[in-house]
Parts: sequence; structure tokens; C-alpha cells
Amino acid sequence: MTIHSYAKLNLGLKVLGKRADGFHDLLSIFQEVDLQDDLHIDVDPGGDLSVIADRDDVPDGPGNLVYRAADALRLRAKRPDLGALVRITKRIPSGGGLGGGSSNAGAVLCALNHAWNLRLPEAELAAIGGEIGSDVPFSVGGGTALVTGRGEEVQPLKIVGDSPIYLLVDPGFSVETAWAFGSVNIKLTSEGPYIRFLNSVRASGEVALLDFLETVENDFLPLICARYPSVQRILSTLEDSGALGASMSGTGATLYGGFSDPQIAEQASLILERLGYVTHLCTPVRRPGGQPDP
Ligand code: C5P
Repeated sequence: MTIHSYAKLNLGLKVLGKRADGFHDLLSIFQEVDLQDDLHIDVDPGGDLSVIADRDDVPDGPGNLVYRAADALRLRAKRPDLGALVRITKRIPSGGGLGGGSSNAGAVLCALNHAWNLRLPEAELAAIGGEIGSDVPFSVGGGTALVTGRGEEVQPLKIVGDSPIYLLVDPGFSVETAWAFGSVNIKLTSEGPYIRFLNSVRASGEVALLDFLETVENDFLPLICARYPSVQRILSTLEDSGALGASMSGTGATLYGGFSDPQIAEQASLILERLGYVTHLCTPVRRPGGQPDP
């Protein structure tokens, strides 16, 4: 069996405060996009669990979130005898704020729940995922969601209206998540256009993705811009090239612009590629009601 596992973008990211458990409370819209890894899964009745990735910067075996997710799943189901060989074909860059490892873990929880015939409900898969990493609960249902808490409170959203094209730009460096959370300046804001927009989205359960690109705020952006001056130049290039809004995903370093016109997005991608950056054009992955795609 081969399944897809999608990158996620943070369409804005507010850090609300530090929690007693050392993690931070967040407020964000998570959006899956069609930049994907492939997971080739062979169920192993012999009970061995093996995970092999095709890239040197992605660990094989127990160091991979896929291994940890599969192992936690079989332990939760009290079936340590179950096994699988998972081979990962990576396309999502690592350390870029695109949640590639978490996405792989979420996808494997759903796939093995089915292949091992465990029949655990999605909420339980998300709870297992939350023990593996903060972004994994979202990846179990995917699509578009309002995400709060440490990442475990996931409200699936319905997309209304047209979908943007997102142009992802790799600025050429990666950011360590724990460092970013440890260094971010937490401002206690409960106002502003982005927060107001999120409040209306929470109440309606719907989001018009083209409507708020201009207002997105990522609290990590000042930190990353201060350290890497190229970030501001890339964001300005995206906006000057016709993006309706430009920001950063997660704690960085992937930057993106949202466009309404595919041709303008392609032209912007050529401009950034000519400046030496690797880019990806993607569209939102829709999973109505937060259900896994077939
Ligand atoms: O859960 P995950 O492994 O993705 O988190 C990596 C690091 O990011 C944590 O060790 C923590 O320092 C930080 N983090 C946080 N608050 C969150 C998510 C992550 O402080 N909500």
C-alpha cells in the first residue's frame, strides 16, 4: 500500500503564552498543501517494525516519528506482535516549518489503524499522535483546521470560495523549533485583524482562504527576520510579485506567498528561482469534515 502525506502551512501563528508543561499555547490556521511524501507500507505478520527513509537528513528506525507512531499505536492496541515495513519517499524539506515528520506520523497512524484492523477512532489516533509531537494531531485529520492549545485542539474548517495558490520559498537555512520557542517574544495581544478573523472563523467553522492573507501574523517572524535579513527581502519580493500576502510557516524557515492567479504565482516563482531560491507551487488539500482522503 502507498499513501500520501502532505506538508502543512501555518496561515498565521500566534504564541499566546508559556504553559506549566514547558510547551506554548498557540493559535493558528493549519493548512495541508499538495507537497507530499509517499509512504510505502508492507504489513509484516512477523512483528518487525522497520522504517527506512530515502534521504540522509531523515533518520531510519526508532529515530523517525513514523517508527514512534507505529510503535505507540500497536502498544495502545495491546498488539506488540504487529509489524510493518515503511519506506518513505521524501519531498517535504526537513526543518522548514512544514511539519513533514509529523505529517508522516499522522498518515501512518491512519494507515496502520486500517491495515492492522484496529478500528481505533480518529480522536484516539490524534491523542496517540499528540504524545509523538505537537503537530501530529492535526495531521491525523488534515485539511484545514483552527489549531489551539499545544496543537492538540483541532477544529476542522470548511473552505468556502476559491483556493489560493501558495508559492513556498526555501530561504536556504533551517530553524530549530525548540530554539525558536525559547527565544520568541510573547506579546499578550488579544486584538488586531488577524485575531478578529480567527474569532469569526472559530464561530462559523468556515474559512475563505483568499480573504485574510493580508492580515496573517506569525509571532516568530520578527525573531527570524532579525537573524536572517534575506527573509524580509524574500517576503517583499513575494508581495511585489503579486502575492496577496506573504508570511512564514511555523517557526520557519519556509516562507510563502498566497496568490489568486496561477500565472502570477508562476512568474513570482521564476523571479525567486532566478535569485537562487528553491520554490514549490502548491494548492490546499481539501478533506471535508477533517476526514482522511480515500
Ligand atoms: O512537539 P514538538 O516535538 O513538535 O515540539 C518541539 C519543541 O518545540 C518542544 O520541545 C518545545 O520546545 C517547542 N514547542 C512549544 N510549544 C508548542 C510546540 C512546540 O514550546 N506548542
